[in-house]
Amino acid sequence: MSQHSSHDFTAHWAQHELGDVVVSAKEVHERVCELGEQITKDYAGHPPLLVCVLKGAVNFMSDLMRAIELPVEVDFMAVSSYGAATKTSGVVRIVKDLDVDLEGRDVLIVEDVVDSGLTLNYLRQYLGSRNPKSLEVCALLLKEGEQRVEQSLKYVGFSIPSDFVVGYGLDVNERYRNLDGIYTFIGKP
Ligand code: IMP
Ligand code: MG
Repeated sequence: MSQHSSHDFTAHWAQHELGDVVVSAKEVHERVCELGEQITKDYAGHPPLLVCVLKGAVNFMSDLMRAIELPVEVDFMAVSSYGAATKTSGVVRIVKDLDVDLEGRDVLIVEDVVDSGLTLNYLRQYLGSRNPKSLEVCALLLKEGEQRVEQSLKYVGFSIPSDFVVGYGLDVNERYRNLDGIYTFIGKP
């Protein structure tokens, strides 16, 4: 993991639009390792199918899967709920569906951030209807006090304030996913 890259504290090419560091690259790295260890323990003997929610969870998925010491399988789906704005529309669209059958599988949804919870709520119902043996969620970020839908999240990386953030997969108009840390966004969306 490139937690010592030039993105770490400076990200000079992005700095004019970035506010505070919300979670540093080092903190992300350490927490992802902890989550991987926990998942390794919890799923020993029944490795999960990790379902990455594109695009925002791609960095998290990439690091998390390598922190799990089990023969996990991975698949990807893409949903869109935001369009180009920074607040959820509440309407979730499946842009890419899964390739694998969920019947009888231990499924772990890997999400970047739970804000209103509408996206996850929709995903849970959608994936839950395909008869997985279990269906749990691992979310990197949980926005404090923002959930319009009650969520039970088995794994959460960090609880953060409700400000809009970018980096480590999270974007504003598709930009800044390639930062190693997570920052508030102070530019124009
Ligand atoms: P929700 O449906 O309101 O929970 O929003 C969830 C989705 O919106 C996430 O999967 C992200 O793709 C996106 N999102 C929510 N908050 C942020 C943010 O602060 N930065 C970037 N994307 C966000
Ligand atoms: Mg997302």
